[in-house]
Amino acid sequence: MSKIFIFDTTLRDGEQTPGVSLNAQEKLEIAKQLKKLGVDVIEAGFPTASKGDFESVKTIAKNVKGVSIAALARAVKSDIDRAWEAIKYAEKPRIHTFLATSDIHMECKLHMTREEVISNAAAAVRYAKSLCPTVEFSPEDGTRSDVQFLYKVLEAVIEAGADVINIPDTVGYATPAEFGKLIKGIKENVKGADKVIISVHCHNDLGLAVANSLAALENGAQQIEGAINGLGERAGNAAIEELVMAIKTRKDYYNRFTLDINTNQIYRTSSMVSQLTGVQIQPNKAIVGANAFAHESGIHQHGVLNNRETYEIMNPETIGLKTSNIVLGKHSGRHAFEEKLKELGYTQLSAEELNEAFMKFKDLADRKKSIMDKDIEAILTESSVVVNDVYKLEYFHISSGNSFIATSTVRIRKGEEAVDEAACGDGPINATFNAIERAIGEEVNLVDYYLKAITGGKDAQGEVVVKIQKDNKFYSGRGISVDIIEASAKAYLNAINRMVSNK
Ligand code: KIV
Ligand code: ZN
Repeated sequence: MSKIFIFDTTLRDGEQTPGVSLNAQEKLEIAKQLKKLGVDVIEAGFPTASKGDFESVKTIAKNVKGVSIAALARAVKSDIDRAWEAIKYAEKPRIHTFLATSDIHMECKLHMTREEVISNAAAAVRYAKSLCPTVEFSPEDGTRSDVQFLYKVLEAVIEAGADVINIPDTVGYATPAEFGKLIKGIKENVKGADKVIISVHCHNDLGLAVANSLAALENGAQQIEGAINGLGERAGNAAIEELVMAIKTRKDYYNRFTLDINTNQIYRTSSMVSQLTGVQIQPNKAIVGANAFAHESGIHQHGVLNNRETYEIMNPETIGLKTSNIVLGKHSGRHAFEEKLKELGYTQLSAEELNEAFMKFKDLADRKKSIMDKDIEAILTESSVVVNDVYKLEYFHISSGNSFIATSTVRIRKGEEAVDEAACGDGPINATFNAIERAIGEEVNLVDYYLKAITGGKDAQGEVVVKIQKDNKFYSGRGISVDIIEASAKAYLNAINRMVSNK
């Protein structure tokens, strides 16, 4: 049996998803959840990219133990120093350094000769290895590189001390058979390849990232890199949940491989990443989409009722999707609430977190008759990340209809000061956003707005996710309420608070 290492890059390549920007607290929450999921390596960020990235990698290295923490660095000394500064606190630190090896990248981006690339890559690995016990090297754009030259680069970095060599399909260009052949060729022709771990990092531009990663495993790769929900540059990276469930579900076929993933944490991890990044999951997304276990046609429903396996190759409970019927309501007490939390797997809440969640639950129960599991999960994810609330919504009032102009009045508190403002708009949400902008004295550029019902039913809570932009940076905000205007106002202020805290 051979153990497959799962290298998660949700916090690095995943954060490069257009429009995604996570703060340090959110990254820490995700890293803790990735640890629960059981990934082997968490790539926490690219410390040279910004001070914020440096700080969040450092915080994760200090606080998330029992898992390897990697930081990305270009093949230059200053990047490697910065990466090491951030991850040296980790129990198992890893520097991941990279340099492009394709002709187009070397000529048009790096302006380096082949000889320079070989010597810079080897020097970077040697230097990283002098600081950090584990070093990974990636020849960027590996799949579009001249294969004989690629072999030479890999031999040089292995000689220099690399422990892991990661072959990226940077632009998602490879096809499965071709990629499998490339990995096999590396195993057979690169001197020292048997002494290192061969890893792959596939992008999804042609929708082949998962297939390419699996083909690589069949040809000797031992580590796969990917991101939760397939986040990442452009069309994203291989989706970790898909890779894991393919290997687990088809264990009859992938019988040589073992994984240390707790699949029952997949659904929770995916929801958390979606909520914190503000990137919605398409309903028909494999494994974690809302329809992944839904059966629409009568023939399918009939089959599933007789025997689930007629149309279901995975049990939803394997990924942690509970189909519990127990609902809570206004009369449920603290004991029932705590039991429900345990059942949902929230076993490590502090007394303060429990109190806060219980108060929110009671508040919701006054406004909504039946509280479903998803309502409770929404309450807990809302509380899990504390944003410095510079501005708070004290109240709002709207007047709207189809034959007159919508107006909204809000009171926003900033510390001791409360500001009342009113504004008109195209509808009640627009009017409320305008009133909030007046109250804070700043114009906000709203680039995305998304509303969904958390559960079914007419009294469902609405979840609003907004994205705002300032100086080329995006900030997402989330708000939930049984009232969608309130959810929208909360989401808007949540994004604004992130924006002002980042100043
Ligand atoms: O896609 C890529 O080539 C990368 C490298 C930095 C590994 O993300
Ligand atoms: Zn990548």
